[in-house]
Amino acid sequence: MQKNTRGLMGIAAITLLSFLQQDVFSQNITIPVETQHNALVLQTNASNNLGIVYLGPKLADKKEYENIPAMYKQTAEYTGVANAAYATSGSRNLFEPAITVTHADGNGSLDLQYVKHETKKLDDNTSLLTIITKDPVYDFEVKLFYKTYFREDVTEQWSEIKHNEKGNVVLQKFASAGLYLKADNFYLRQYHGDWAREMQPEETRITHGIKTLDSKLGTRADLFQPPVFMVSLNKPATEDEGSVLYGALEWSGNFRIDLELDNQDNLRIIAGVNNHASPYTLKPGEVFTTPAFLSVLSHKGKGEASRQLHAWARNYKLLDGKGNRLTLLNNWESTYFDFNETKLKALLKDTKELGVDMFLLDDGWFANKYPRNDDHAGLGDWQENKSKLPNGVASLVHEAENNKVKFGIWVEPEMVNPKSELYEKHPDWVVKQPKRPEYYFRNQLVLDLTNPQVQDFVFGVIDNLFTKNPNLAYIKWDCNAVVYNAYSAHLTNQAHFYLQYVQGLYSVLQRIRKKYPTVPMMLCSGGGGRVDYAALQYFTEFWPSDNTDPLERIFMQWEYSYFYPAISTSNHVTDWGKQPIKYRTDVAMMGKLGFDIVVNKLNTNDLKFCQDALKTYNAYKPIIWQGDQYRLQDPGDNSVAAMMYLNAEKNTGILFNYLVNNRYDAGSERPIRMKGLDPEKRYQLKELNLYPGTPSTIGDKTYTGEFLMTVGYNPDVKASRASVVLELKAVE
Ligand code: DGJ
Repeated sequence: MQKNTRGLMGIAAITLLSFLQQDVFSQNITIPVETQHNALVLQTNASNNLGIVYLGPKLADKKEYENIPAMYKQTAEYTGVANAAYATSGSRNLFEPAITVTHADGNGSLDLQYVKHETKKLDDNTSLLTIITKDPVYDFEVKLFYKTYFREDVTEQWSEIKHNEKGNVVLQKFASAGLYLKADNFYLRQYHGDWAREMQPEETRITHGIKTLDSKLGTRADLFQPPVFMVSLNKPATEDEGSVLYGALEWSGNFRIDLELDNQDNLRIIAGVNNHASPYTLKPGEVFTTPAFLSVLSHKGKGEASRQLHAWARNYKLLDGKGNRLTLLNNWESTYFDFNETKLKALLKDTKELGVDMFLLDDGWFANKYPRNDDHAGLGDWQENKSKLPNGVASLVHEAENNKVKFGIWVEPEMVNPKSELYEKHPDWVVKQPKRPEYYFRNQLVLDLTNPQVQDFVFGVIDNLFTKNPNLAYIKWDCNAVVYNAYSAHLTNQAHFYLQYVQGLYSVLQRIRKKYPTVPMMLCSGGGGRVDYAALQYFTEFWPSDNTDPLERIFMQWEYSYFYPAISTSNHVTDWGKQPIKYRTDVAMMGKLGFDIVVNKLNTNDLKFCQDALKTYNAYKPIIWQGDQYRLQDPGDNSVAAMMYLNAEKNTGILFNYLVNNRYDAGSERPIRMKGLDPEKRYQLKELNLYPGTPSTIGDKTYTGEFLMTVGYNPDVKASRASVVLELKAVE
């Protein structure tokens, strides 16, 4: 009925539009942005606005991209800009905008028209497309950037906004980028969480209207909702089948990702910094650069998409992505704040005995007037606590050298306890509302990183540690509070606070990396809650969660593994959970391995197991870190979860299998089908990480890759063998 009422107008509009399309397509500019398997095709329309006409598998004949729009006969498109590459507001756009502005004269309309574009080949794998768009009425310009990583099928998109109006322009919304997709249906996999419950997935069909994923937490922005998601096209993608787009915003603060299914059943994705409480005042001539939004598209399921993303991360983004990582013993859960030099020196001996590369001293080593003996005091006062460490950190670094292990240290330099000398000296450095009571997250407040003096201070915390201890090998950078009562005593425009906080953080991290380019640093945030690909440019690894119960970790690591490579995921063996040491260690080995246990309380067999497991890990870490990761059996759907890593030559792999169901007789009833093997090679399977005195039930037969991928292999997982690690080796 409704359709009939608007019938005539609709038909007239369709006719007019298809006429315009047919008539002008030959003059329209079509810009294909291609990667190894895909193309994003941009095209100008009759009004010279730039739209996205295609995102899908690339075509052999580029000319054919021009024919794509005519193949869609969807309902009327009234605006002419519904598929905008970078949607504006206040003019013809009726949908969610990427950009909303208030011009110097108070007018709120914007129309961006194509001016020109150029593509630069940056090297044999990367290209940068720059498109200049301008408003025909106002002196306002937006440059759109598309950086492609050909082999990895990854695209990074961002924009630069500037104007030369006769006064300031206020950017009410300033997204990084937009995408526009056509499919029969769309399915969103999104994440939510909280402390110890990070990366909880939900997958649903996208319905009409807008779904917004966002954060307003300021610092540890992705505690409740991380800036990563995936969208399956047509039907929910599986590990090996279906078209799926992964998206992620490279930004460590408030973000906003809008997914809008419109009246034509097309999906608009707009991602950027969250404009919540953040209108940005842009001066004439000033260039505002947005962070990058990255996407990877695969037509072979979630598995390929994640392997492409891992390769990209290791090759281009993650700091030292192809480099080494240190196994470690952390003292957080074994001592908490209760330690002194004698105790730590004993732990350094344990570090050696265990066989890890490094000892990591956690929270509690600093502050004197308000000693850091619990989490209520001392944060911000980065001088060694004289009663705990009378000879300073230096003597510990020295003692570590004597034990032939390295030494790393914990800091949380962006934060302050109200009970601290730092707070007493510099109350104006603290983020808090001048007229409101303070409100704390873990008894602490955030320092105002928009203030260059605070930036110097935070840089100094790290710089002083390295200056005094040149052999310091590692930093664990923690961040335990969100921003409440956002207000900066330094800023004149409070609306810039959230944005400039993150820019201040990046400026500190850039200074640190200029002086200390490769020293490994862990990005930690009282559990997960901060990881994103902008931060990972400065960090070698991240802490996914304080929840190290291995059963929980199997699920959490599984979800993180879609987006982040194993080399970046710090997993520690702790006393969380009820599982035996073997299960806990096996799970932690699936990423960057560490321990946080009381080594001298381990019984002989447990210790021997850990020592041997570390040797095994050292032998296999090149494959876990740099190999291809295959998710074989999802813990959410099976009694046995299985994850596999395979080297590029496909001749060596490691396979982790876990019982994740406690019910009677649960186990690996059916064989687990492997992936990625060479069907013609023969593989020998051998059980690794056997607990001392436990025989393996794995025989010594060999199997072809074809057999292992078609029929599969049963690792014999059951209650008495709840965790089984297998080596796969090609034999002649
Ligand atoms: C939170 C981290 O996640 C823990 O590993 C530990 O470093 C504590 N902070 C220390 O306060």
